[in-house]
Amino acid sequence: MAGILCTILTLLALGKAPEHCSVGHVPWFCHDLDCPPYEVTETLGKDVELRSYDAGVWMSTNLTGMDYDKAVRTGFMRLFAYISGANEGQQRIEMTAPVRVEMTPGAGPFCEDHYKVSFYVPFDLQDVPPLPLSKDLFVDPAPSVKYYVLSYGGRTNEKEIVDKAASLMQLLEDQGLTYDASTFFHAGYDSPFRLFNRHNEVWLRAV
Ligand SMILES: *[C@@H]1O[C@H](CO)[C@@H](O)[C@H](O)[C@H]1NC(C)=O
Repeated sequence: MAGILCTILTLLALGKAPEHCSVGHVPWFCHDLDCPPYEVTETLGKDVELRSYDAGVWMSTNLTGMDYDKAVRTGFMRLFAYISGANEGQQRIEMTAPVRVEMTPGAGPFCEDHYKVSFYVPFDLQDVPPLPLSKDLFVDPAPSVKYYVLSYGGRTNEKEIVDKAASLMQLLEDQGLTYDASTFFHAGYDSPFRLFNRHNEVWLRAV
């Protein structure tokens, strides 16, 4: 995953706008970026918590029939084009965090993995997200929802994401907690330029 995604993220980091005001308390790992507000409902372990997310609008793109690296790369490029001006009004839109990937194993008629790659719409555009020019992108409003979240550091890859999701599932099952097993999420908060204090999460929707 490093190669091309790394290059794109590097370009993004170079072009990133300076710090701006943010609303309310922002978790440390969001740094200077807008990111979806939540409250910790329950702490289940050192790195695991139940979060209650506010309703919020994301911009998403779906990808099927390709491997994880290609899906994330392609999805990221589509979203990057959108925030760079490929939207009605040709607005330049602030980068946010996290880049979130919903992974649905073996979905569809050919049992292909399905990926949905999403950017969180900046706070000041939540009410009026600029419409994408590309038909591959869609405005993706999320209701208020609870996720079980496992956090970990460093640079990650698909194998580690799947391993972390499996260990979160095990932990929840050990505690008799129920979750939506059909899909899971990876949330990545950092550009490749960040050397330390990198932050990743896997999310499972609580049911
Ligand atoms: C995108 O994929 C999600 C599942 O990740 C699905 O629920 C949704 O209907 C899809 N949307 C479009 C526009 O294809």
